[in-house]
Amino acid sequence: MADTPSISLKKKLEGKVAIVTGGASGIGEATARLFAEHGARAVVIADIQAEKGQSVAESIGSQRCSYYQCDVADEEQVKSMVEWTVKTYGGVDILFSNAGIIGSSDQTILDLDFSEYDTVMRVNARGMAVCVKQAARKMMELGTKGAIVCTTSVLVVMAAQTLTDYTMSKHAVLGLVRAASQQLGAHGIRINCVSPSGVMTPMAKKIGLATAGDLENLFGPLTSLKGVALTAEHVAEALLFLASDDSAFITGHNLVVDGGLISMPFLKSEENHHENNY
Ligand SMILES: NC(=O)c1ccc[n+]([C@@H]2O[C@H](COP(=O)([O-])OP(=O)(O)OC[C@H]3O[C@@H](n4cnc5c(N)ncnc54)[C@H](O)[C@@H]3O)[C@@H](O)[C@H]2O)c1
Repeated sequence: MADTPSISLKKKLEGKVAIVTGGASGIGEATARLFAEHGARAVVIADIQAEKGQSVAESIGSQRCSYYQCDVADEEQVKSMVEWTVKTYGGVDILFSNAGIIGSSDQTILDLDFSEYDTVMRVNARGMAVCVKQAARKMMELGTKGAIVCTTSVLVVMAAQTLTDYTMSKHAVLGLVRAASQQLGAHGIRINCVSPSGVMTPMAKKIGLATAGDLENLFGPLTSLKGVALTAEHVAEALLFLASDDSAFITGHNLVVDGGLISMPFLKSEENHHENNY
């Protein structure tokens, strides 16, 4: 009988302590689960959705996953969350800075609503900077050669006809990752980002993609890779790579997870919506 090739079951985060912001839902939830499966000693879900966050933490297991109520844009709350993590679990090795929001209108440049703009920028741009600052300061203080990963979006490498404020906020995150990688490298701290295209999460529902079928209809024809639709679990695998020692010499990188998206005529403003039939 031929030898059966052994499947590598190596756990990539054995003994690590990870913070996952926005871990109550979507990409953050899938990543919190994958980090725990890969041996993370502790995963702290930092979010504002208490019920969902607690339920995810319980389902992962209360011995190694906790929910912490924290608005990522509030520096005092983030500082306390990082302190609590270190006090409770003895350190912090990984920050997955992922919490993000999308506006509720088209937000084309001609109709930009600045109150909505401020809300989106507060969470997506300021919130990421606050979390990176506080986690990096703590890693340095403890002498931890940590890994930080932020969620950007495929909209940092292309644009849509709507979502101006969201697109701007994600470019800000890319700038944060590039600047911070230069500044934190001397301390052995890596920082990278992942840029997914459309994923079926509550956020996708906010822009009218109600089902996995809607997402597939929109992105399927535009990706060079056929026969597979992007899921939160695919994104989590990319995050695991950047959070683990598998990417030990990678910093300041933007890992696009888009199945080879070739163009994005998607998210037209209301005006063009009917004309283009979607
Ligand atoms: N879903 C997509 O198609 C897609 C594509 C590209 C990038 N992204 C990005 O991925 C990240 C995760 O989004 P998702 O699709 O999983 O959406 P989601 O809505 O399922 O999850 C976002 C999480 O962030 C939390 N959050 C929002 N504001 C917060 C705040 N002020 N403080 C703490 N937590 C807060 C929410 O409560 C929620 O649990 C976001 O940064 C988003 O911009 C999503």
